[in-house]
Amino acid sequence: MRIAAIENLRSRQEELGQFLTATPLADFMASMFGTLPKTVRLLDAGAGAGSLTAAFVSRCCEKRGGVGAIEATLYELDGEILDALAETMRECEYRCADAGIRFTFTIHSTDFIQEMSTCLAGDLFATHPPAFDVAIANPPYRKISNDSAERRALRSVGVETCNLYTGFIALIQRLLVPGGQLVGITPRSFCNGPYFRPFREDFLSQLELRRLHVFESRQAAFRSDSVLQENIIFHAVKGRNQPDEMLISSSSGEHGDEITETIFPFTEIVHPHDTVKFIHIPSTASHGAAKETMDGLTASLASLGVTVSTGRVVDFRLKSALRKEPERGTVPLLYPCHFNGGTVHWPKLEARKPNAILDNDETRPWLVPSGIYLLTKRFTSKEERRRLVACLFDPDEVQTAWVGFENHLNYFHASGHGLDRSLAVGLFAFLNSTVVDQYFRRFSGHTQVNASDLRTLTYPDRETLQSMGSEMNALDLSQDEIDQLVTKHLHAC
Ligand SMILES: C[S@@+](CC[C@H](N)C(=O)[O-])C[C@H]1O[C@@H](n2cnc3c(N)ncnc32)[C@H](O)[C@@H]1O
Repeated sequence: MRIAAIENLRSRQEELGQFLTATPLADFMASMFGTLPKTVRLLDAGAGAGSLTAAFVSRCCEKRGGVGAIEATLYELDGEILDALAETMRECEYRCADAGIRFTFTIHSTDFIQEMSTCLAGDLFATHPPAFDVAIANPPYRKISNDSAERRALRSVGVETCNLYTGFIALIQRLLVPGGQLVGITPRSFCNGPYFRPFREDFLSQLELRRLHVFESRQAAFRSDSVLQENIIFHAVKGRNQPDEMLISSSSGEHGDEITETIFPFTEIVHPHDTVKFIHIPSTASHGAAKETMDGLTASLASLGVTVSTGRVVDFRLKSALRKEPERGTVPLLYPCHFNGGTVHWPKLEARKPNAILDNDETRPWLVPSGIYLLTKRFTSKEERRRLVACLFDPDEVQTAWVGFENHLNYFHASGHGLDRSLAVGLFAFLNSTVVDQYFRRFSGHTQVNASDLRTLTYPDRETLQSMGSEMNALDLSQDEIDQLVTKHLHAC
């Protein structure tokens, strides 16, 4: 949808503190909503010339068959922009009529903070607060002093905050129905500033954060407005349970540029025991670089003559054959608890898990002949730094003819037998590297690593892996040392 009026108003923006959202950015924000109800009660607070509502409407019109009616409520204090806003709403009406969507709108040329605070405070003479299914917002930002009218109004509904934008978001949150969605573009300052702590507590206790989008350049979002704030876009849903994982995306901010997306466990964004509730936004630029590196690799596991399988010993099916301690007639049985900084620590008698399994006709099909195997954990705890944790089973360390790998492990092998040492150590370095970890997180926020995930990764060729392996003189290198070694060899290949 073209909104010529928006462009004409740009020269007044700084004077008014108005940073209007350009159409491509508004479209991007509108694309971030999840499933919408049939009838959408939409809130656009601080609507300016209406580009956010226009983008939302465009999106609904393009996706025919979903939304049947949009009831838009817009708040805009600046009288001089109201004509442009009304014009944009009429364009929305035409557009919706064409798409078979019923569109109604109400423009309130009043102060959103004052009006909604009064409503929400439950003043007997005030009307009930309205309820919304969707809010799209680029709220005004300006510091509000401790004794300002805005601050007092917000305080009356329990909102303690020092900027207009967080005041807007806190009120919008209160007006959403359970499951209602909010996409907002705001400065990034609320994520970690100490002054925003009460806001963050309020926000994170009432809204489930689903996605954050960051711009790689400070001025990207509002380039033509010389805004020096770092901006962020978020998609949040009214509810009290934070998701297990969330999407972090980034782009340079140039129109039509590539968007890098990575999934992270929520606990990495807001640490569970962090009393100040900082919202940590990982750098997605390095994740983009990891993708580039991985895309440059051409070998598959199969082409390396290597297979990865899930450990064959399902312990509850072979219960009677399991032994806490090794004894005559048993062989080592390995669990993730036997991982010890790159190598296997066995037996581990203080652990709750069995250490051995009987080697007999019944169990032999579930065992593998001794050799060098690379093991990875199938499940990592959220506290673990990497999703992929690999360790080496070395028969020089654990002497045995056969060994059992329990089902919570994946093991890399060559047709059921051990691997060449330098290849196994090279794979060890590669799989434990930050590049692979970052790449892996791009498509999986789970802490689970399946054999099929490892099968579909791309790998360095055999020669590169072997030279990586030959150069590793110990398995307990630091993360930096592993990364330096892997990067050096990947760049050489
Ligand atoms: C950052 S601009 C964004 C405008 C529009 N949403 C967009 O994205 O293009 C914020 C708007 O909020 C308006 N505004 C500022 N304080 C307001 C208030 N207390 N109540 C309603 N609108 C307000 C400003 O006039 C401005 O148009």
